[in-house]
Amino acid sequence: VSVLLLNGPNLNMLGKREPEIYGSETLEDIVGRLKKTMEEELGGRLEHVQSNHEGVLIDAIHQAKGIHDGLIINPGAFTHYSYAIRDALASVALPTIEIHMSNVHAREEFRHHSVIAPIVSGQIVGLGSDGYDWALQALVRKIKNSRV
Ligand code: DQA
Repeated sequence: VSVLLLNGPNLNMLGKREPEIYGSETLEDIVGRLKKTMEEELGGRLEHVQSNHEGVLIDAIHQAKGIHDGLIINPGAFTHYSYAIRDALASVALPTIEIHMSNVHAREEFRHHSVIAPIVSGQIVGLGSDGYDWALQALVRKIKNSRV
């Protein structure tokens, strides 16, 4: 099983950025933990791309087709307005989990709406960095179940 993890704008600032909302772990901590789980527990491979640029994320989504079995994406603020990322995800049609560390529904109004949500398999919201671990477990289970 091969999974591509995508993190959008400002997520490179985790650990330093608004720690009262996003916690003290860095993105490197989270990705390192997920790679370990993937290799040692789930018998798969995890690749990670973080970018602050919409087009880089779109290119990475396109390139995932035929290489990865599924995607986990935290699109950051692009969640709320990037029809281009939504269309890219729809075009590759890979099983995809959308994740947000914070409970976006308890925050500003503009964070309540996701333009990505209608075309993903499911969402994990508000569980902090653990959300990435749940997303990985859920996605790998989904991929493995679809093979039997
Ligand atoms: C976020 C929520 C978004 O509204 C915000 O723009 C982010 C992070 C989250 O993980 O909670 O950058 O996706």
